[in-house]
Amino acid sequence: MSTHYVNHPDRLRCSVAVDDDGEILGFQSLKRATEVNAYGLPEGWGIIGTYVNAKAAGRGVGKALFASSLDAAREANVTEIDATIGAANESGLAFYDAIGFHTYQSKPGAVCKKYTLA
Ligand SMILES: CC(C)(COP(=O)(O)OP(=O)(O)OC[C@H]1O[C@@H](n2cnc3c(N)ncnc32)[C@H](O)[C@@H]1OP(=O)(O)O)[C@@H](O)C(=O)NCCC(=O)NCCS
Repeated sequence: MSTHYVNHPDRLRCSVAVDDDGEILGFQSLKRATEVNAYGLPEGWGIIGTYVNAKAAGRGVGKALFASSLDAAREANVTEIDATIGAANESGLAFYDAIGFHTYQSKPGAVCKKYTLA
């Protein structure tokens, strides 16, 4: 977690949702795509990943995390955010559709969605 997200040099923001007792309900990472990146994205795009505790699913945690990531993207002048999701991950695909992402590319076993900032 620390190496891949929190202390990653390409990190723009890591957002964490906690309940009243401090238990972690969800996490979202937003990184900036560098010149050479694992997803083959244009340099400067955002790369997002979301993980919500199953027991907190459907309560708006992911959506709230995305509000924080969007703030970070705007601050960093990011214009496009990529979410690459497993093609069989129906809840992940539905989540990103619901928060405004659109499919722009398919890869073997994965669907690439993007969010365009106004
Ligand atoms: C997918 C995931 C991030 C959704 O998080 P969440 O906190 O349950 O989502 P929210 O409650 O904030 O829902 C936000 C929107 O997504 C929609 N949504 C979320 N899960 C959904 C599902 N399984 N089916 C249909 N729509 C769904 C909600 O209906 C809501 O839409 P609305 O704003 O129009 O009401 C969460 O289930 C998760 O972490 N799953 C495991 C990891 C994963 O698949 N991550 C995504 C790929 S990186």
